[in-house]
Amino acid sequence: MNLTPVLRWSSILAWLTALPLALSAAESIPLQTLDLTLVQQGWGHAQTNRSIREKPLAIAGKTYAEGVGTHAKSTLWIQLDGGTERFRAQVGVDDACGGAGSVEFKVLGDGKTLWQSGTMKPGQAAKAVDLDLRGVKLLLLSVGDAGDGVSYDHANWAEARFEVSGPRPRAVTKPQEKPYLLTPKPGPAPRLNGPLVYGCRPGHPFLYRIPATGTRPMEFSARNLPDTLKLDPATGIITGIAPARGDYLVNLTAKNPAGQASRSLTIKSGDTLSLTPPMGWNHWYAHYNRVTDKMMREAADTLINSGLADVGYEYVNIDDCWMNAPPQAKREPDALRVGPLRDDQGNMVPNRHFPDMKALTAYIHGRGLKAGLYTSPGPLTCGGFAGSYQHEAQDARLYAEWGFDFLKYDWCSYGKIAGADPSLAALKKPYQQMGDLLKEQPRDMVFNLCQYGMGDVWKWGESVGGHCWRTAGDLGFELDRIFEVALKNSEYRAYSRPGAWNDPDYLQIGWIGNARNGGLPQPCSLSPNEQYAFMSLWCLMASPLFYSGDLSKVDDFTLNVLGNPEVIEVDQDPLGQSAAVTRLNEQVFIMVKDLADGTKAVGLFNQGEFDEPASLNWALAGVGGPQMVRDLWRQTNLGVQAGEFKTTVPPRGVVMVRLMPARPSSPTQP
Ligand code: GLA
Repeated sequence: MNLTPVLRWSSILAWLTALPLALSAAESIPLQTLDLTLVQQGWGHAQTNRSIREKPLAIAGKTYAEGVGTHAKSTLWIQLDGGTERFRAQVGVDDACGGAGSVEFKVLGDGKTLWQSGTMKPGQAAKAVDLDLRGVKLLLLSVGDAGDGVSYDHANWAEARFEVSGPRPRAVTKPQEKPYLLTPKPGPAPRLNGPLVYGCRPGHPFLYRIPATGTRPMEFSARNLPDTLKLDPATGIITGIAPARGDYLVNLTAKNPAGQASRSLTIKSGDTLSLTPPMGWNHWYAHYNRVTDKMMREAADTLINSGLADVGYEYVNIDDCWMNAPPQAKREPDALRVGPLRDDQGNMVPNRHFPDMKALTAYIHGRGLKAGLYTSPGPLTCGGFAGSYQHEAQDARLYAEWGFDFLKYDWCSYGKIAGADPSLAALKKPYQQMGDLLKEQPRDMVFNLCQYGMGDVWKWGESVGGHCWRTAGDLGFELDRIFEVALKNSEYRAYSRPGAWNDPDYLQIGWIGNARNGGLPQPCSLSPNEQYAFMSLWCLMASPLFYSGDLSKVDDFTLNVLGNPEVIEVDQDPLGQSAAVTRLNEQVFIMVKDLADGTKAVGLFNQGEFDEPASLNWALAGVGGPQMVRDLWRQTNLGVQAGEFKTTVPPRGVVMVRLMPARPSSPTQP
């Protein structure tokens, strides 16, 4: 048989099929020629033609001359604009990782997973990626930690190349989300917010501003208020002297022409303060060593004028840098903050930006708010200002006399006194001392331990008189890790209870300054989804809620994240439970928190870069029977569901709901 014509036709056909590629003269562009400074990764910087350890790229004994060495969790966004034909690479864990790393490579195009490696371990042969990318506009190369943390996760994209016939691939920053508002604006009728229980010590000055949203003027009244207390009907501020030991069930009412609202508040006069996590504002992450008396007064005014005080924010807290720095240290650039640390009597001297501490706390108290202060048990604070070492009793007395209601006690420079490797007793000592001293003062002072979790502080913080304690270092240094920080903090959930709170540090959204250099405030790097997730995590963990951004720049978006009363109610729940965590997959985890009324608050969190479908199963949520599902951010009922709730969680975001037992016939709409 003569095959010649057939062969000829088949070769012509093959040639014709290849023609578009040939005509487009596909160019081969190596991954490492893109701007690798845009790679986000869990450790180090992305490397060109070498591993993250700066050695030749090597996977299972084979070395590769070219490619990119990175470290989980790693993302690189690449704009392809439809110009790339193929992407090829050999991927795997680098041989020099030095431990038991495990990673998962993923290639995602326009939000869809195009390829995933499955879990890869050291010594495992490289896997080949070979993908048709025609039509894809936005590509994401990601390396996950395969669910076991990022240690030793050295990941190589070896021999990674794009075959390009149109626009060249460009590394880009992560696409920006536009801010979007979820919290409905408060209506004109009064709504009473804030905690349902409030702790005070008998015989001490009492101050409580009833948080209420709705149109002002409003008229407040209270039934069963103890005789020692007095309510100003116009402002809703209760003052007086805390009553004799006991529980007082008070009924509060707020009225205006649009309506009225009532709710109970149990005043518990006894030994325990902070029966719900403290809420307020702290100057640190916006203003560092720029804090002034004026700034603190303005902060108090803004808490009132912005409505944040109406949803429960009450403390106005000065952090470091209100004292003098020693002249000989030559570290503080502002001459008004340099001078004698103490006067002739040994009293601490505020710097010249704080001319009159008593007048400042009186101003804050006049608005129904409370005032907080910071010091360190060491000779100097972290910022290099006067600390309380060897003046503890005198300082505690002075702060109480000035009228402060809250003390943050840091650790900095105490390390030298405690020694290089302090014992548990040495770690506790300064906190026990200050805790005892604060209890002796004739006013209620909340005690906040700031020693970054040393010696498992959650196990003993309460026993030394603490009401809340930082569980880790400064969150400002690792804002890109809010999920990881929250998950770590959640491990100590068993220690969370009324009067004893784990503190994963301040809410840093809106305008904040760079913590590394005390920078001026600018819009924070977190996406809108991440900011909603941040607030939801903190509320589900019953964390202290201290906003630490620039209040003078607070906008509608930030206010809507900070000020949703249904979300805050989860934080302020009287049971004081910190949510239990269950991971559904590498991207999605849930947090379930028992609330005092028997209902559950649940957050579904997505650590991934794209929408993730998620299903909240009733067994996981610890509920049975039909449940009304309420979307807490939107303040809307989503309907009665049986058995599970299915949703889609936005990238690096949250869906936060409350599950309330319902009869099958309950209405499905709000
Ligand atoms: C430490 C604390 C911060 C802040 C600074 C002040 O870093 O963790 O919260 O108080 O000190 O210098």
